[in-house]
Amino acid sequence: MTKVLEAKNLVRDYHVPGSLFKPARTVHAVKGVSFSVEQGKTLAIVGESGCGKSTLARMVTMIDAPTAGEMLIDGETVDITRQAMTPKLRRKVQIVFQNPYGTLNPRKKIGDILGEPLIINTSMSAADRKDKAMAMLKKVGLEEKHYARYPHMFSGGQRQRIAIARALMLNPRLLVLDEPVSALDLSVQAQVLNLLADLQDEFSLTYVFISHDLSVVRYIADEVMVMYYGEAVEYGTRDAVFSDPQHAYTKTLFAATPRADVESIKARLARKSAA
Ligand SMILES: Nc1ncnc2c1ncn2[C@@H]1O[C@H](COP(=O)(O)OP(=O)(O)OP(=O)(O)O)[C@@H](O)[C@H]1O
Ligand SMILES: [Mg+2]
Repeated sequence: MTKVLEAKNLVRDYHVPGSLFKPARTVHAVKGVSFSVEQGKTLAIVGESGCGKSTLARMVTMIDAPTAGEMLIDGETVDITRQAMTPKLRRKVQIVFQNPYGTLNPRKKIGDILGEPLIINTSMSAADRKDKAMAMLKKVGLEEKHYARYPHMFSGGQRQRIAIARALMLNPRLLVLDEPVSALDLSVQAQVLNLLADLQDEFSLTYVFISHDLSVVRYIADEVMVMYYGEAVEYGTRDAVFSDPQHAYTKTLFAATPRADVESIKARLARKSAA
């Protein structure tokens, strides 16, 4: 199997400048985290707010450089502090954020939003760009008539489909999804998760999927990494992590999440009526 992404001991410190009353300090956001993801697979990263998930996402998408450690994409070492970012490298990793409204330009039509990455990174003709955008709209479950509409004319779920379509316009190898369904209603969440699963199969896409929702993680992940204060405290296949969590933090995390399967609901009701 091909490893699309490999991270070795990634570290990210932030230096927060001091003020009159506060001394300068260093925040150790990510403290030496290692993992890899094979082509066509999904690694889910779970953990409470502030544990370093988005910091990791920014390093993987090459928006931010690690303080230390090594990152390989398709077997090649990537170091944005030393090497020029070629369009070829940039195209390999794309990101989808939690709130697509914040990242879709409200003054641009959907067709232009989808065509923009192609203008910047390819020499495709206007006609080819339009064809590709139309085809991508259909792939993510939208219609050709949506091409000329503006972001405010869509629902939250549809906007997330547009953000996914935009991320796929350059045929990336790896998609980083930072809480992509957390702002959506439950039923819409399921639709977008199904879409992501279908697209993964069709394009053999590799996902790094960040979420705090364990039911979402259980559904989408092949492997799971649990982060706690900048460290990976648990890392393994989904079934191993869910059936036999090792770390105390993971055990409390799982215990705090009510299970929604029929057996545990029945057991809960039985306990209630007995009481
Ligand atoms: N630019 C920055 N400067 C200083 N500190 C930062 C910066 N970015 C993040 N941090 C700190 O690094 C830590 C990790 O932040 P990060 O955004 O990665 O957390 P997260 O796991 O994504 O949280 P959430 O679930 O709330 O999105 C936090 O303590 C945060 O305050
Ligand atoms: Mg975050």
